[in-house]
This record gives sequence, C-alpha cells and structure tokens, in this order.
Amino acid sequence: MEKRSTWPDNRDVSLLVDAARGIRGERVPVWFMRQAGRSLPEYRALREGTTMLEACLRPEMAAEITMQPVRRHGVDGAVFFSDIVTPLKVAGIDVDIKPGVGPVFGTSISSKADIDNLVSHRLEDSQEIRDAVKICVEELDVPVLGFGGAPFTLAAYLVEGKPSRDHLAARALMYSDPESWDRLMTWAADITGRFLEIQIEAGASVVQLFDSWAGSLSLKTYEEKVLPYSTRALSYATVPTIHFGTGTSTLLGQMASICDVLGVDYRVPLDSVAKRIPGKPLQGNIDPALLAAPWSVLEKHIDEIIEAGKAAPAHILNLGHGVPPTTDPEVLTKIVSYVKGEL
Ligand code: CP3
Repeated sequence: MEKRSTWPDNRDVSLLVDAARGIRGERVPVWFMRQAGRSLPEYRALREGTTMLEACLRPEMAAEITMQPVRRHGVDGAVFFSDIVTPLKVAGIDVDIKPGVGPVFGTSISSKADIDNLVSHRLEDSQEIRDAVKICVEELDVPVLGFGGAPFTLAAYLVEGKPSRDHLAARALMYSDPESWDRLMTWAADITGRFLEIQIEAGASVVQLFDSWAGSLSLKTYEEKVLPYSTRALSYATVPTIHFGTGTSTLLGQMASICDVLGVDYRVPLDSVAKRIPGKPLQGNIDPALLAAPWSVLEKHIDEIIEAGKAAPAHILNLGHGVPPTTDPEVLTKIVSYVKGEL
C-alpha cells in the first residue's frame, strides 16, 4: 500500500510502533483497551462533577486521564482518552454519554430528512482534541494511540438513538433504503476519518478503529454494507492502523485486509488466526474475565497467549475487550511487570 511511504520518519521508534509495522522486538509490547477510565481511583477523582464529553473536550483533563495509566502501569502505549462519539459532539450533533448506558442521541435517524440534517454536520477541526493529544505526545516517552469508531458501530448508535443489543434498525435500513445507508455510512466514515486525521496531525503514532458491533453481521452483509466504509475511514490514516471488533470471528479475514494489525477478541485463539491470515501482525487477547482470577490462572493464560502470538509476525499484547470498571488496577500493573520480566 502506497500510504506506507507517507509514514513520517521521525515518529517514535518503539516496541509498539515496531510491532504495528510487523517487526518483532525483544518482548511483546502491552497496552489495554479502556486502560484510562473507571478502574483507576485517580480517574474517578478527576472526573467528579464533569460529564464524560466535557472531560473529553477539556484538553488538560483529557491529557491527564490519558497519561494516568501510563504512569501507574508502565504500559507501552497511551490510548487517547476520548470516545467514539466525541467527533459527533464537536460537529454539533445532540449526543450525550449516559453513565452505565453509553451514547444516547437527541433524535434517532429514521427518515431521509433526518439523514439530510445529519450529513449537514461536518467535523472541520477541533483545537481541544488537537491540544489534548499534543500535551500527551510532548509529555510521554511512549507512543500515543489515536482511535475512532467504525462507521457501522457509529451508525448502529445513530439509527437506534441509543445502545441496542442486535442493531435491528440499522440492519433493516441498510436493505430497505440502500441509498440512505450509503449516505449515512459515507458521512460516518468521513467524520471518523477526520477524527483520526486530527489525532495523527497532533502526533498520534498508531490509530485503532473500533467496530464493536460488527459481530452482529453476516459475512455477506459485512462485505457489502460495511467494509467499503471502514476502508474509507481508514484511508485517512497515515500511520499504522489496528482494526478491532468483538464477536467477529467470521469477519477477521475481511477486517485484516484493510489494516496493518488485526485486533482479536478473547473468543478466538491467536495461533488459529495466524494460520487463517498468514503474515498479519495481531493484537490481543487476554480474556477480561480472567483479570479477576487468581494470579496463577491469569499468568498461565498470558503465557498461552504470548506463545500463540508467536505464530504471527508480530504481536501486541492487549485484552480481548476493554478493562471492566471493577478491575483491580494492581492486576494490570502486575501484567505489565510480568511481560517486562520484572516480576
Ligand atoms: O481505551 C481507552 O482507555 C480510551 C478511551 C475510550 C473510551 N471509549 C472512554 C470511555 C475508548 C477507546 C472508547 C471507545 C468506545 N466508546 C467504544 C468502542 C470500544 C468498545 O468498548 O467496544 C464504544 C462502543 C463506545 C461507546 C461508549 N462510551 C460506551 C458503550 C460507554 C460505556 C457506558 C458506561 O457507562 O458503561 C461509553 C462511555 C465511556 N467511554 C467511558 C469511558 C472511560 C465511561 C464513562 C465514565 O467514566 O463516566
């Protein structure tokens, strides 16, 4: 892919960026999805009295929250603290994040007029996002990971107006009104693409595209109705890309075709993915449930994952989904120490 030649030469040389480029280092790099957030008492203290989206759009606060898990755990990367709907908020869309629920929109999208209105909102720029990422890049000696929500996951929220289990409304729209679906998904790809681009311009070294809900789709639907738009979103990235979804076992080949590193959830062993998709760097896939297990159990699980990851050209150790809010943060610190050979 020609975009590789545009990777800036002066980006961090680090275990994480190397792995994302398919280069295996002396040990696996490690970070955790949702490492910034409710599992940390210092996060809960800082967030008091501030809504989630307010916190995302206060540069000093968003930067501080991004850096907290790096200081505490010594992870190899800092995932930017924000949300998949932050760019929508910046673009003027009526969205809020309800604690314990997730993103909730003022209106759901059901008619062509709703889509006309939606696509009139553009993300030009966000000084807040830019400044927050810049602070982290300047202060940290590990790479900053930017991220965005994949068009389908965003559309699933937008069409329902709130989180849903099976995304029926979105899945109906794609077939009942293909033209509206195309407009909605093209728009969502561009807004997420621009969000990624802003983070990269501010210094993010790697970006991850989350398609959390793609697992509810058949392979055929995914290929026809989703993949072209995820491709479009990722085309904005000029740094290595990671693509992750949950329950996506049947879709992994297609997802891998549009990114540099394939994120694997906890349901599929890494060595089986490496066999299916040879030559692909992989990220994953500690079962978040085992963070609450005795250390001896967790240690064995991590050993197995690192071993299985050797079947891929490079491996970034992570969870198979986000850190549960009830996690004892000391367990995460211990995992990092273990991986670094410090235990
Ligand atoms: O990984 C990180 O540490 C970076 C920050 C991050 C957040 N959200 C912060 C957040 C990232 C990468 C996300 C992505 C995100 N947001 C996804 C994709 C990843 C995934 O988990 O599948 C999705 C689907 C969302 C939408 C969303 N935002 C949900 C479902 C929730 C949880 C609602 C709840 O309270 O249980 C949010 C809110 C959210 N985003 C929180 C955080 C830390 C919790 C808000 C709080 O602390 O008050």
